[in-house]
Amino acid sequence: METATALDRIPFLDLKDQYAALRGELLEAATRVLDSGRFILGPEGEAFEREFAELQGAPSCLGVSSGTDALMLALEASGVRAGDEVIVPSFTFIATATVVNAVGATPVFADVDPERLTLDAASAASRVTKRTKAMIPVHLFGGPAEMAPLVALARERKLALIEDCAQAHLATYKGKGVGSIGDAGGFSFYPSKNLGAAGDAGAITTRRKPLADACATLRDVGRRPGKKRYEHECVGRNCRLDELQAAVLRVKLKRLASWTEARRRLAARYRAGLAGLDLRLPPPEEAGSRHVYHCFTVQTPRRDALAKRLADAGIGTAIYYPIPLHLQPAYAGSARRGELPASERACGQVLSLPMFPELAEAAVDRVCEETRRFFAVL
Ligand SMILES: Cc1ncc(COP(=O)(O)O)c(C=O)c1O
Repeated sequence: METATALDRIPFLDLKDQYAALRGELLEAATRVLDSGRFILGPEGEAFEREFAELQGAPSCLGVSSGTDALMLALEASGVRAGDEVIVPSFTFIATATVVNAVGATPVFADVDPERLTLDAASAASRVTKRTKAMIPVHLFGGPAEMAPLVALARERKLALIEDCAQAHLATYKGKGVGSIGDAGGFSFYPSKNLGAAGDAGAITTRRKPLADACATLRDVGRRPGKKRYEHECVGRNCRLDELQAAVLRVKLKRLASWTEARRRLAARYRAGLAGLDLRLPPPEEAGSRHVYHCFTVQTPRRDALAKRLADAGIGTAIYYPIPLHLQPAYAGSARRGELPASERACGQVLSLPMFPELAEAAVDRVCEETRRFFAVL
């Protein structure tokens, strides 16, 4: 899909074209909700949950207030409590770890696979103690984590496995939609995500009915759905998805499959245009697995110079993430510098290139051309 993106300035991310294309439908959806007078836990939310579950290949879906809350409720519903430990990768967005603190437990940082940049099972296994209750692998940048050894480890050590799917809508691993491989998945619909709301929103998917029921009760101040309005079964939270966000998400959900294909086509174009450079590209997809390219992230020890060169050429890039979680001030003392080398190296070398469905192919070509010039092979 070619759009009017001017090639002299290529933004890292631009949501304006998407909004312009959907404006009429979005306003109609918002008006429908406002006219209905029903704002919390109503038909839009229920319809979105059904529709998203179907597209994601998940047995069930529960809308919640953010991706952070999705992960937090999934942990809580899995019985993770104060004094427990939860293994998370050090190379991820900080919410993967803060949700562990939010339920009173302690995040324990493990390293990532240097190619996939997702939780490394051997490193995770080395961090398991008697207190470990769960692991949270992240399908980072839209690429599925290597789940098979993590599933085996979770079984062997009786750990809950909660997938952080915040960046991985419609991604698959060995033929299964992410979010249905472990015990539960947490999705984010933060506006810049592959499926983005007009504010904060999220969802929990799970193939475990009791877990789904527990999350449904926890998200609505401890009220079990269908039971008395002021009877509270447990100490829950207010983590509901509102009707306005659900209605917006339903409009966008209809395009998610084609947007995902557009991302995948652009990624293939980047791969072809950047081939042969001294640059680490995302690893190629394995049979049965689908990368959904929330980001197209390359790695090079010359990252900062490349980012500057692209910026000088009017090309936006982003560094996700510059500091590993075990070296964040918020987690001071959690692990030593040098202890999780792949995470530390990734933070110094990753660079995410422009990627959104409306990005013009010619823009990708120009990013590749500038990058090839930087590596002096043009
Ligand atoms: C990997 C990861 N985990 C969790 C989250 C949290 O999602 P949210 O911002 O919807 O709370 C995000 C996104 O911001 C994320 O990228």
